[in-house]
Amino acid sequence: MKVLLLLGLVAVALCEQTRFVGERVLRVKPETYEHVSIIQELSRNVKVDFWRPDRADIVTVGMTVDIHVPAPQLAMVSTILHQSDMEVEVLIGDLQVAVEAQMNNKRFTKGHDYMKYNNWETINDWAISISSANPDLISRQVIGNTYEGRPMQLLTVGKKTGSVKPAVFMDCGFHAREWITPAFCQWFVQEAVSTYGSDAEMTNLLDKMDFFVLPVFNIDGYEYTWTRDRMWRKTRSKNSGSSCVGTDPNRNFDAGWCTVGASSNPCSDTYCGSRPESEIESKNLANFIRTNKSIIKSYLTVHSYSQLLLFPYSYKYGLAADHSELLSVAQGATSALRSLYGTKYQYGPGAVTIYPAAGGSDDWAYDLGIKYAYTFELRDTGRYGFLLPESEIKPTCEETMLAVKYIASYVVKNL
Ligand code: ARG
Ligand code: ZN
Repeated sequence: MKVLLLLGLVAVALCEQTRFVGERVLRVKPETYEHVSIIQELSRNVKVDFWRPDRADIVTVGMTVDIHVPAPQLAMVSTILHQSDMEVEVLIGDLQVAVEAQMNNKRFTKGHDYMKYNNWETINDWAISISSANPDLISRQVIGNTYEGRPMQLLTVGKKTGSVKPAVFMDCGFHAREWITPAFCQWFVQEAVSTYGSDAEMTNLLDKMDFFVLPVFNIDGYEYTWTRDRMWRKTRSKNSGSSCVGTDPNRNFDAGWCTVGASSNPCSDTYCGSRPESEIESKNLANFIRTNKSIIKSYLTVHSYSQLLLFPYSYKYGLAADHSELLSVAQGATSALRSLYGTKYQYGPGAVTIYPAAGGSDDWAYDLGIKYAYTFELRDTGRYGFLLPESEIKPTCEETMLAVKYIASYVVKNL
């Protein structure tokens, strides 16, 4: 009995979770160049976690900047910001409270629940069971293992016709802390199989095409956000010559790699990695898409937060060859999304709409020849940020379904 208790204590100590008591998320809006340089200076001298944008050097005048400030730095950061006469808004007064409040679905469910955040083990079991329960609509394959050896489960959703169909590829969970995104991929699969045969648009889509759905791309990082640090973003690979762990997978693709909006410092949250596709997860995804490039007509990658629908390019300011078509499809998709609950999305090329950032999977897929390449940034605009409460899973997923269906229907009509 004593031994068990001791083992229990050791286990708790070993699996210590980072707590965020007294930490805050602040929003500032720099109005002058001086304000911008104060923010950048701040990030050089104090360890702050950028929520939006994801790094200090892309902050510009007029931008909305959300930063997570650890407790010991809070007094200093607040003083500096207030002295600069910049407006400071407290988005989250106590991050630990928000971390605990996001799981606000109190319904008792054992195992998987579409209206809750599910951990990796639950998602993995779900992927296996939903595909075996729907053999005529879903097939499952593993496109490789993650750095820590977890299987990257890919579901192919579409009516099996016996012939090759065009496809949309969609991934979620690139960035570990963006929990609403794996929830969306799970929702999408369930909605597809449950409305096939009753919803005319979904039926037509699944008859004519396939959706490759990767519910969690960065599984190791996602698992880490559940067990150790809720605010983790990157992969979990070791970096040689550094004690800092992980690469930003959305800076790790071969699209202007590491030229802009990315860091070559392994300790940075936007570290581009040692080379393009240095991360096994990026390589597995890129290999699958290269192999199936002739059938993949659209690439959708789902992130959060900010309510944006972005398309190439992000690694340069120059417009994509298909700019006007991409723009009009984005306009249609975001207005379909808005029709349900009035949620407003901005849309446009990444570099001009938010900031230039190279090495993204969207730009890479586009340059490979996959024309309809889009990045979603789901809810919200900062009230909860990455800690979107479970009560918003349903409305977020419902409205996002409309945008994804809009894009897929457009693709089917314009093959
Ligand atoms: N918030 C996303 C990121 O910074 C936006 C990605 C837009 N696309 C891109 N290639 N940067 O990763
Ligand atoms: Zn992201």
